[in-house]
Amino acid sequence: MNLALRKMLHNVSALTDLAAEISSTHNFDEVARTSLHTLLGALAIPRGALARYTTRPRQLKIMAAKGLAGAVGQRIAIDRDEAERLTTRSLPIFTQAENDGLALFVERNRETLTRMRASISIPMIARGELMGLIFLSEKFTHEAYTDEDLEIIGAISRSIAVAFYNHRLMVMHKRKAIENRRLYAEMRQIYRDTVRAFGAAIDLKDAYTSGHSDRVARYAEAIAREMGLTGLELEHIGVAGYLHDIGKITVDRAIINNPRPLTDKEFGELNKHVTTGFEILSNIRRPWDEIAYMTKCHHEKVDGTGYPQGLRGDEIPIGSKIVTLADSFDAMMTDRPYRSRLSLEQTLADLRKHTNKQFDRNVVAAFCRLLLKEINGGGARQRVFIPMIGMKFDRIAITATLDSMLAELDSSTPHYRSAAS
Ligand SMILES: [Fe+2]
Repeated sequence: MNLALRKMLHNVSALTDLAAEISSTHNFDEVARTSLHTLLGALAIPRGALARYTTRPRQLKIMAAKGLAGAVGQRIAIDRDEAERLTTRSLPIFTQAENDGLALFVERNRETLTRMRASISIPMIARGELMGLIFLSEKFTHEAYTDEDLEIIGAISRSIAVAFYNHRLMVMHKRKAIENRRLYAEMRQIYRDTVRAFGAAIDLKDAYTSGHSDRVARYAEAIAREMGLTGLELEHIGVAGYLHDIGKITVDRAIINNPRPLTDKEFGELNKHVTTGFEILSNIRRPWDEIAYMTKCHHEKVDGTGYPQGLRGDEIPIGSKIVTLADSFDAMMTDRPYRSRLSLEQTLADLRKHTNKQFDRNVVAAFCRLLLKEINGGGARQRVFIPMIGMKFDRIAITATLDSMLAELDSSTPHYRSAAS
């Protein structure tokens, strides 16, 4: 095999190794170092350095070097015009004979280039952008670079440039993804704050229900989480908790705050709040488009006797069933115009009585499990009910009631009883 052929084979195999290295390693400095060493090895060049071009600040920074102590980390000044000139240049810069617009660049950096023993400098270009510069000393043999050498150098510098380009793209994407996540979280927080503000506005209308929407939202979220719901579904249920009574904004304050039992006409007016609420919230689109319907159904009952549609069982969205229970629990546990708050014992008795009628059995079970955990201090992520209702109850008796409710739910038929039966 003649020398030229052997040399070519050697270079081809060096290029193949380099391509494999570039695509397999994620360590960017490692890519730079390996690329430079491959290039120097392939052409028997004793010294060289590889610099990366950045625009902020505009400079070339040495990332890898061989045979040049202290070169890594050094910065080389370059201005915008020079960078542009390098971008359109297909030939290497010969440090000793530079005269085509880059003379100033060479002159200004003469000291550094001399220290680096740079005989030629090759721009690394990818997709029309300057990625960096490779500095090479004279060859071991002190022979001049041949056209074939320059072709090899050109090919290797293009592969390194592509690796640099891809790395930059990856870093940019990562940064953008982080920024997008931050903006998205901020947006969600603004939505949530707005929703809370709306909830507080609804509660203001009713002298007796200060903080009701906030509590319903917290209860509903806790129950939904206990039922294994996560992500957007969980968030929807929390928001529906805050906004379930938004339709009351249009109901006469005198009806809402009436201490006497309501007349049929007044009930009719009050009950409209679910459809009014639906109309208001229907304007909300993705990702919260399910909230309007969830809110509309918060007075439906699993036995079909609720309003406005008389839905039964699983025709009612799970979020509505959860909000229904959270809403009723809070209503019973707080003073109302027409009665004082019930005790926890009375409230649980009511929930038990209306399970499979007004309330979904699975929601009641989740509620009981959660309350048990909170009372006995085990497993609940964060106490939600106890901070609101306090601990002024017979812990042993309530625990026994909750246990027996759960046992009953376990053994009872999962079908909903109809109102007539
Ligand atoms: Fe309501």
